[in-house]
Amino acid sequence: MNNIFERIPVASVDLSGNEEKYAVEAIKSTWISSTGKFLSQFENEFANLCQTKHAVAVCNGTVALHLALLGLDVRPGDEVLVPSLTYIATANAVRYVGAEPVFVDVDPETWCMDPKKIEAAITRRTKGIIPVHLLGHPADMDEINKIAAVHGLWVVEDAAEALDAKYKGKPVGSFSKMATFSFFGNKLLTCGEGGAVTLNDDSLATRIKTLRGQGMDPTRRYYFPITGYNFRLTNLAASILCGQMERKNEIVEKRKMIFSRYDNAFKNIKGIKLQPCAKWAELSPWMYACLIDENDFGCSRNAVMEYLNKFNIETRPMFISLHKLPPFREESLQRCESLPETEYLSESGVMLPTYTMLSETDQNRVIDTLLDLKKQMLHRKKIA
Ligand SMILES: Cc1ncc(COP(=O)(O)O)c(C=O)c1O
Repeated sequence: MNNIFERIPVASVDLSGNEEKYAVEAIKSTWISSTGKFLSQFENEFANLCQTKHAVAVCNGTVALHLALLGLDVRPGDEVLVPSLTYIATANAVRYVGAEPVFVDVDPETWCMDPKKIEAAITRRTKGIIPVHLLGHPADMDEINKIAAVHGLWVVEDAAEALDAKYKGKPVGSFSKMATFSFFGNKLLTCGEGGAVTLNDDSLATRIKTLRGQGMDPTRRYYFPITGYNFRLTNLAASILCGQMERKNEIVEKRKMIFSRYDNAFKNIKGIKLQPCAKWAELSPWMYACLIDENDFGCSRNAVMEYLNKFNIETRPMFISLHKLPPFREESLQRCESLPETEYLSESGVMLPTYTMLSETDQNRVIDTLLDLKKQMLHRKKIA
């Protein structure tokens, strides 16, 4: 088909502030590796944003999770509770340290790990819990922390998709032992590839920094008391993040506007269900997602995606349930895991174009195309 419409991507980067200026400054200074003023500036600003004592910049969000688990000394034979409805990095990181991810179903009211389902998944091997603040909605941290305390487990928030989300009025990233963030190209703030670990514990922060830098003693150069990794972020990448941090409020506002336009267009449409928002939550406008109920809408989520694609509109399916994927399904079957909410959301969820540069005209094209399909479904029902 010869498409007359320009492609609308599902995500796109906006570096229209001082990002370029700071990147040039980093290049001219020759400090482009993992030391430099932008790195320390970014770490300080990010810790302030998350209201934590420390922020440790790393080369991506997956590495941030891996580092957190190394910092907590998670080992082969240990089990870590994770939601199955998340990006695969959450569970992959658990495997990197030889431990096993055990999946917990999500709550339909938050799409995040359901605290009511946690206790049934705890065994003698369980060491910790990684709730994911999915699609910008915070997990119910007070309930999760309560259960963790009863069972002597640590908690690490995977906040990759939820920068600036608020739980009971306070930003995510400070509600547990550590939290991890991603600055991948589709994230709220980006430097292409990047990540961070936020935390309050001083000695754990030293351990995390030591592990990040090949195990080198922070007070004794070229002395390596432990085996570490090269998980560092570059000053060049941090310069871009400093430019992004200046624009954080502007970026959030623009994305919130996109969310509210979609919400207004879809809230009364039979067959489209909006992302819920708990009364204690303030959503981070990361990527707009909604559910397509096949019976009520008239066709499946996949058919909706195909239709939008025909009109050159890119979408993204909800995350595939991790417990169904080849690396995890055997173990999940052996544990007889039942995760019906995850499976429903995974099969019916779709993510729509969300980025600051999305024009109102282009967003209207997305909305109108989806609503046209709905009209066709209604028409088909009438004549059937
Ligand atoms: C929930 C979640 N965790 C972890 C990550 C991994 O981050 P990165 O892609 O920066 O490695 C992502 C990523 O995109 C994510 O959505």
